[in-house]
Amino acid sequence: MDKLDGPARLMVVSDLDQTMIDHNDPENLSLLRFQALWESEFSQDSLLVFSTGRSPMSYRGLRTQKPLLTPDITIMSVGTVITYGEEMIHDVGWEEFLSNKWDRDIVVEETAKFPQLKPQPERNQGPHKVSFFVNKQGAQEAMDSLPKTLKQRGLDVKIIFSSGEALDVLPQGAGKGQALLYLLKKFDAHGKLPNNTLVCGDSGNDAELFSVPSVHGVMVSNAQEELLQWYEENAKINPMIIHSTERCAVGIMQAIGHFKLGPNISPRDLEFPYPKLDTIKPAGAVVKFYALYEKWRRGEVQNSPSIMQYLKRTTHPNGTIIHPSGTESLLHASIDALSSCYADKKDKKFRTWVDRVVTSSIGTDNWMVRFDKWEMEGDVRYCCLTTLLLTMKPETQEGFEMTHIHKTWLEGYSAGNEHACIL
Ligand code: GLC
Ligand code: MG
Repeated sequence: MDKLDGPARLMVVSDLDQTMIDHNDPENLSLLRFQALWESEFSQDSLLVFSTGRSPMSYRGLRTQKPLLTPDITIMSVGTVITYGEEMIHDVGWEEFLSNKWDRDIVVEETAKFPQLKPQPERNQGPHKVSFFVNKQGAQEAMDSLPKTLKQRGLDVKIIFSSGEALDVLPQGAGKGQALLYLLKKFDAHGKLPNNTLVCGDSGNDAELFSVPSVHGVMVSNAQEELLQWYEENAKINPMIIHSTERCAVGIMQAIGHFKLGPNISPRDLEFPYPKLDTIKPAGAVVKFYALYEKWRRGEVQNSPSIMQYLKRTTHPNGTIIHPSGTESLLHASIDALSSCYADKKDKKFRTWVDRVVTSSIGTDNWMVRFDKWEMEGDVRYCCLTTLLLTMKPETQEGFEMTHIHKTWLEGYSAGNEHACIL
């Protein structure tokens, strides 16, 4: 929670499956487009919160399959677990609070009396979450009688039906909306209430997010029937909530534009040559640089010398790069090496993205930019912890120049070949 000195400009609180992540998009393009926007325009003064029904174990598994950014806060197991930072430090206070009027064993005992409730696998269960698979009708029956039965045994529970097939029994104080309210209260107590909050979801367990007062909301175009029905019955008159026409993460970008919460054009969608900007943001410069790098290697831009000339204009002629293998070369020499790799990753499911970007100013014109640079080819991925020095040059066409790049393999994610992470 300490990343920012003041309030966040924007806090995006998003569900993952079928909201941030489009499981019908094997190339992960909508996710990568949103994330490039986030890293370049928002990451330095805003907060990204993932709020998922997945357990911590299942969420960790998803991270190894999808090119996800590292969020500032992760809410898991349908709002029953809150963790902070990349270290995922648990909010113990929240978990203690949820133990009030809750006894997992009693929930298991009483739910066993409903034959239609088929327990989900162990990895989906949690200390404050008992989950089943069930159809709509079976869910309705359980929702009608279970809370009363459990009340007689001293428990106060909440039952949520999602995606037409999943039923979760949680403590009454839990859920994605309650977890967000808890966070907002904490921020408020520290004088750091975000200027704007945008919640994003697609299914039943997200409905609560849209009832949190004063937040903007987007139900993505592909939202499930139960969420749309909830919206019809409860929130239709609320102008702060929209149903996007775009799927998943692109629907989130659409909402950022609709509610005027900030820029909403992804650097991945910019055509080369890039337009000259009035103000250059170091994070934006880095994201655009690697978006171009990816397109070059995928052969998605023209094989034109003007691109290499552009890269050379944005790098100092004497600037150096330290490659993760330990060799050092001139930045211009690495650009020449890149030049001969045009389209070498064509049809190879090659993607590159940056995560955990931190920009720090050194004096008036210089910036140090620290980030993780990922490359992925099919299922194989590698990552360089990268430090880059950048100088603002408002008098030039590009407005900035890179003077030094230093890379080290992230433990467990090194690549054996010299053509990985050329820049
Ligand atoms: C996720 C969880 C599952 C839960 C569902 C709906 O899919 O893995 O346990 O029932 O979300 O909340
Ligand atoms: Mg979902």
